[in-house]
Amino acid sequence: TSLERLATDLRPADSAVALTGAGISAPSGVPTFRGDDGVWDRFDQGQFTYGRFQRDSEGFWADRVELQRELFGGNYEPNAAHEALAALGRRGPLEAICTQNTDGLHGETLESTDAESDPAILELHGNARRVRCVDCGNRRDADPIFERAEDGELPPRCECGGAFKPDVVLFGEQLPAAVIQRAKSRARESDVFLAIGSSLVVEPAASLPRLAADAGATVVIVNLESTPCDGVADIVFREDVTQVLPRLRELVESV
Ligand code: OAD
Repeated sequence: TSLERLATDLRPADSAVALTGAGISAPSGVPTFRGDDGVWDRFDQGQFTYGRFQRDSEGFWADRVELQRELFGGNYEPNAAHEALAALGRRGPLEAICTQNTDGLHGETLESTDAESDPAILELHGNARRVRCVDCGNRRDADPIFERAEDGELPPRCECGGAFKPDVVLFGEQLPAAVIQRAKSRARESDVFLAIGSSLVVEPAASLPRLAADAGATVVIVNLESTPCDGVADIVFREDVTQVLPRLRELVESV
């Protein structure tokens, strides 16, 4: 099968890199943005821009409180797909996980006791479990700050007087350049590039599969729906991430 072929590819490969999106966290209960019942069907994307944050931080925060509850209101745990990727890092060739997710779930699968062999995690869109002061750069846990916003402090402010912003990349905001550069070079240097649970429509993540393919990598896509990058992929699994990744992990570990 194509999974067995991939497992053989992965064994001798010295470098595999994964790119993940909301679909990998969907089996944990986290809603996706697009696809079936996506959050952007219920919320207006245009209200969550960097421009609005700067112009109308009060309105932005009032709406963001609702979105945050929708996205991260549950008590989510990593699922078998997150665990499989972490294991492919520890006992296999996976060197890095580039993620568009801001839920922090990949981080929870790392074993701090064996940090050496853990895969690197590159959070391309930041982490919604934190907020950051736009003036002094101070980072804090998001939960207590969101509680203050729910109690009417709009926007919630740092001790220095600056407004807090969710520590995520908003539409219209620059992505962290250093992280993107690292993700691009990881993609170019990879022998196998796995795009997992992403609609692959948001840049710059959407260009990583092609970048990897152009540099000679075997590109694999795992997603329930078709994506604009399917044409550059060597193998496409239109299946649930929790079906494909644990099986791949088993095959790789069985040698
Ligand atoms: P999307 O919500 O755009 O895409 C998620 C994809 O996962 C969809 O194509 C689903 O079909 C697929 N999917 C859902 N459940 C799955 C499962 N169990 N197994 C396999 N596939 C599944 O999410 P992203 O591509 O991550 O930006 O979205 C990219 C960015 O757009 C997000 O990071 C966010 C959003 O606006 C920011 O927050 C800056």
